[in-house]
Amino acid sequence: MTMNIAVLPGDGIGPEIIKQALRVLDVLKNEGMDMTFTDAPLGGQAYDQYGHPYPEFTQKICRAADAVLLGAVGGPQYDNLDRPLRPERGLLGIRKDLGLFANLRPAVLYPELANASTLKPEVVAGLDIMIVRELTGDVYFGQPRGMRVNEEGEREGFNTMIYKESEVRRIAHVAFGIAMKRGKKLCSVDKANVLETTEFWKEIVIDVAKEYPEVELSHMYVDNAAMQLIRNPKQFDVMVTGNIFGDILSDEASMLTGSIGMLASASLNETKKGLYEPSHGSAPDIAGKNLANPIATVLSVAMMLRYTFDNEAAAVRIENAIKKVLAAGYRTGDIYEEGMKRVSCSEMGDQIVAAL
Ligand code: IPM
Ligand code: MG
Repeated sequence: MTMNIAVLPGDGIGPEIIKQALRVLDVLKNEGMDMTFTDAPLGGQAYDQYGHPYPEFTQKICRAADAVLLGAVGGPQYDNLDRPLRPERGLLGIRKDLGLFANLRPAVLYPELANASTLKPEVVAGLDIMIVRELTGDVYFGQPRGMRVNEEGEREGFNTMIYKESEVRRIAHVAFGIAMKRGKKLCSVDKANVLETTEFWKEIVIDVAKEYPEVELSHMYVDNAAMQLIRNPKQFDVMVTGNIFGDILSDEASMLTGSIGMLASASLNETKKGLYEPSHGSAPDIAGKNLANPIATVLSVAMMLRYTFDNEAAAVRIENAIKKVLAAGYRTGDIYEEGMKRVSCSEMGDQIVAAL
C-alpha cells in the first residue's frame, strides 16, 4: 500500500522544519517504504496564493491523503485580515473538514533536558503525560456565535459551549483506549461545578468507563487541573478534556518539558486518518533564520507512522534517533545549555538523519 502524505509547510518557520522532517521520511523511502508526498498551502501561505486559508486546492489534496503533515500557520502580516480569512481559520477549517476530533498531545520530558524546564528537575524528571483534547466541538464551533447589538442597545460578543453525547462518547473511547495502552489512569477534566456542558461531559465519561473496568478514572475541575499540572504533574497519565480546556492545558503541559519545540501532536478522525503537526506555532521572529527546532515536527512524523500507518517499529526508531542526538549533546537555541553543542535547524536535521 502506498502511503499517501499531504505536506503543508505553512507559514513562518513551517517550511524549515518541514524540510527536516521530510529528510527523515526520505531515509525510510530510500529503504523501500512506499510513500508519495503532495505539497499544498495552508494558512497565510494559502491566503497569499489563493485568497483563502484553506482553499479548495488544498482541501482536495488533504481529503485524498492518508495523512497530512503540517508545519505551522500564522504571522503578524495576516493579523488585520477579516476573521474568516486569517491563517488560524485554515487550521480550524481543516480539522473540521477532515473530522479530526481526537487531538493527542504528549508531554514527555527527555532526561537530557531536565534542566530546560522552569520547574525543579525532581518535579518533572520522568514526566510522561498524554493529553487527549476534543478538537471539533465545544465553544470553538458552537452556534450561535458572533458579535451584535443586544436589546438594550449595547454591543456584546457571544459563543456557545455545547457538546453532543456522540461527540463526548467518541473522544472518551479514544482516551480510554490510550489509557489501556499506557498506565491505565485517566483523568477527565471539566468545570462541572459551574458549566452544564461539562457536567454532561462528566456524566457521559462515567458511562463510557463501564466498558473499561481496568482503567482508574478520576475527575478534576479545570482550575485545579491547571494548578496540579504545576504542583505535581507526575500524578497524571492520560488526561481527557474538551476543546477549549485542552487548548489551554496542553500549552501548560508542554512548558513542563522546557521547550514547546520538542512536542509533537496528532489529530485523528474515526478512520485513523490524521493531521500531524508540532504543538508550537509559526515563530515569525526566527523564521527564515535556520534557528528553529525541528524535533517536534520529526516527532510528529513518528506519531504519523504509529497512528495512521501502524508502524510502531519505524516510530520508535525515529524517537530513538532523537534521544541519541540529545544524548550526544546537540541542541538548537531553544533548548541550549552551557557546554552543549549549539546547532541550527538544518544541522539538527543532519544529526537526526545520521542517527537513524
Ligand atoms: C492550537 C492552537 C489553535 C487552537 C489556534 C492556532 C487556532 O492554539 O492548536 O492549540 O486554538 O486550537
Ligand atoms: Mg493552542
